[in-house]
Amino acid sequence: MVSSLYPRMPGRHGSRYHECVSGAKAIRIPLLDLRAQYETIRAEVEQAVRGVFESQQFILGPDVAALEQEVAEYCGVSHAIGCGSGTDALLLALRALDIGPGDEVLTTPFTFFATAGAIANVGARPVFADIDPATFNLDPAQARAVLDSHPRVRALLPVHLYGLCADMDPLLEMARERGIPVIEDAAQAIGAEYRGRRAGSMGSIGCFSFFPTKNLGGAGEGGILTTNDGRLAARLRALRVHGSRVRYFHDEVGTNSRLDTLQAAVLRVKLRHLESWTARRIQLAGLYREKLAALGGPVMPPPLPPYPARHVFHQFVIRAPERDRLRERLSARGIGSEIYYPLPLHRQKCFAWLGYPEGSFPESERAAREVLALPIYPEMSSSSIEEICSVIGRFYSASS
Ligand SMILES: Cc1ncc(COP(=O)(O)O)c(C=O)c1O
Repeated sequence: MVSSLYPRMPGRHGSRYHECVSGAKAIRIPLLDLRAQYETIRAEVEQAVRGVFESQQFILGPDVAALEQEVAEYCGVSHAIGCGSGTDALLLALRALDIGPGDEVLTTPFTFFATAGAIANVGARPVFADIDPATFNLDPAQARAVLDSHPRVRALLPVHLYGLCADMDPLLEMARERGIPVIEDAAQAIGAEYRGRRAGSMGSIGCFSFFPTKNLGGAGEGGILTTNDGRLAARLRALRVHGSRVRYFHDEVGTNSRLDTLQAAVLRVKLRHLESWTARRIQLAGLYREKLAALGGPVMPPPLPPYPARHVFHQFVIRAPERDRLRERLSARGIGSEIYYPLPLHRQKCFAWLGYPEGSFPESERAAREVLALPIYPEMSSSSIEEICSVIGRFYSASS
């Protein structure tokens, strides 16, 4: 019996679902084990879910308002606005900042598709700048050069990939000089910190995802926006309910992107555990780092950021020579892994119209060839990490 919930999830992880049901080798150490997490909070979750059914209120309501308050406090901002998904959070943020046709938005090509998909979906054009190989995030020097040559850029959209904040100060500074907002894609980074500030509190708007596999994941789709700007908060609240501030009166056209009460009830339970889960992720990442260093190469653990930061290790991502063969070996030993992401966004078919040839962003392209995410989740045992690192060690000593 495969213990991971991951391969059971259709949709984004559909191919692994297929591998699982078609009798591929059982994964003993999955990338993530949501079932193990559920066992630790089952009673609390069941009580919260029962409460929602007793109330028969399923959309927004007191649980959503309470979650918004608690997330705002957790992220160190004055307002949080629940919505339908992380993708919707990005769309709503762009809409609230009046970004649309004729505008450009500067972002990283090395991210989950939704970041640039949202830009295109509001009718704007994604403009990419390469990543810093030391952080996998937007390189401020590259961003500056692109910004200087693109007068139509109306917003910066840095991503805090894998749970590590981008180098925000220089990005905030260049946005301030240009008089444009910064939207943080913090989908993978709840609780991450940059120079003592929380992800989602530094730009004009922060966008979070509650996709079940996230560090704070719901029991379905969900997302939240954070901001310190009361006017933006009010606009976002209206946009998520078809642009209405007073029921049945619409000042502008919005959409339906409300957060379900059930999601909020489950997320409120999980939020109470998030700090201890994050502490355990950080501890496990430290153990990985120690064990990988002891191998003496050639695997490179995630670099330590060149600025004070709290990495929340949504993913633990190594750079690995012969990455695909290593992945096969891990799988043969019952160890899950994943490639986030195998094709940078400037090379995606749907973005061919942007006209970026191969070689446009060498660091993003190199990262796509080298990265491999290894299992990390709070309930994981230290001995699993020792086993994974010894499989990696044997793989390279055999091939050298
Ligand atoms: C960086 C990033 N941005 C945006 C999203 C979109 O979030 P959702 O899946 O909740 O729509 C994700 C989710 O995987 C993400 O990782």
